[in-house]
Amino acid sequence: MMTCHNLLCLTLFSLVFTIGSGCWLDDQTNHVPTDLTLNEELVLLLGLELGHELNFKEHLQNILIPRTVGSENHTLVQNYIIGTLQDLGWSISLDQFTQDTPLGPRPFTNIIADLNPASPRRMIIAAHYDTLTSIGGFVGATDAAVPVAMMLNLASTMTKSFQDALAIRPDLTPSLVFFDGEEALKSWTSEDSLYGSTHLADLWHNQTYENLDCHETTSQMDRMDVLVLMDLLGTPDPDFQSFQFDSEDDGPNPYYGMMDAIEESLDHFIPSDTKSMFNGLQSSSHVQDDCTPFWNLGLKRIHHWITRPFPSMWHTLGDNWDALDFDYIQRMNMILRIFTAEYMQMQ
Ligand SMILES: *[C@@H]1O[C@H](CO)[C@@H](O)[C@H](O)[C@H]1NC(C)=O
Ligand SMILES: *[C@@H]1O[C@H](CO)[C@@H](O)[C@H](O)[C@H]1NC(C)=O
Ligand SMILES: [Zn+2]
Repeated sequence: MMTCHNLLCLTLFSLVFTIGSGCWLDDQTNHVPTDLTLNEELVLLLGLELGHELNFKEHLQNILIPRTVGSENHTLVQNYIIGTLQDLGWSISLDQFTQDTPLGPRPFTNIIADLNPASPRRMIIAAHYDTLTSIGGFVGATDAAVPVAMMLNLASTMTKSFQDALAIRPDLTPSLVFFDGEEALKSWTSEDSLYGSTHLADLWHNQTYENLDCHETTSQMDRMDVLVLMDLLGTPDPDFQSFQFDSEDDGPNPYYGMMDAIEESLDHFIPSDTKSMFNGLQSSSHVQDDCTPFWNLGLKRIHHWITRPFPSMWHTLGDNWDALDFDYIQRMNMILRIFTAEYMQMQ
């Protein structure tokens, strides 16, 4: 095994690059993430050395304000997300639309950030950035400020490594999607909820993606290698269940399995007092969330990363900074970094 002592090593020995058949769809179907769980040096590097928990807290502080759809604070948070990612070199595209709601027409904006917009394939990490309107002053720490801050922290800590990966194999980009209007504006129904994700799933399902190398006609939706959707994260001792999104396959969800193995590897190389979060509990039901519209339109490669049962302060004013456990959050940031490195086939 090679020895790595610094970031440079990650650069030099980055990736496996398999020469594909020419059509990225085949490469997507045959994709095998690397397994970094036995590689102590890389686990330490990606887990600890690249970790900047102060960076995470700074992002969180900037978004932990009420962010109801259409409000000034919502625009502030939107600009913070966009500015942070642009400064790091990511390309932003916006999906903006106005839609009727029980409170009248409202404007919505999904934010999509690609490190390399020219890549046909996208590994997507996503969360919603709006907050519940029905409780004045609600800041939604777990719902979903922590996931959003985790995504910004991932970009802050991993952009350089992702760029090295892209230099060798430009066909697969990390992408971050920030959904608007996840929450009901009045009370949750299939119409009054999931505004942003419903629109983006529809849009990507409708839009043809021009690609010269493949014979099949493909849509923007086909570009999604995987959708990792995070929600209700940040409380102590959470339980994560494996949701089975592919009805043809009753095996465990492979993305859940990756995270489960990464957590075990961290317990081995970077011991901590945190309890195991991925315990292999399999659920046959789904939780309605921003992944649902994509699932309904045929996307199978989904990992819904959500605390279940929901945190006890869910949809109350108590879902704030004090509800959070930063040891668990640090652990989840490590897991997310290693997961994305494995998916990008770093080694
Ligand atoms: C906007 O955010 C600030 C904190 O930056 C807060 O004091 C204020 O109450 C928020 N406004 C609304 C309408 O929630
Ligand atoms: C997608 O296509 C359907 C059917 O043509 C159309 O009704 C819908 O408005 C389109 N959605 C978006 C977001 O473009
Ligand atoms: Zn919520």
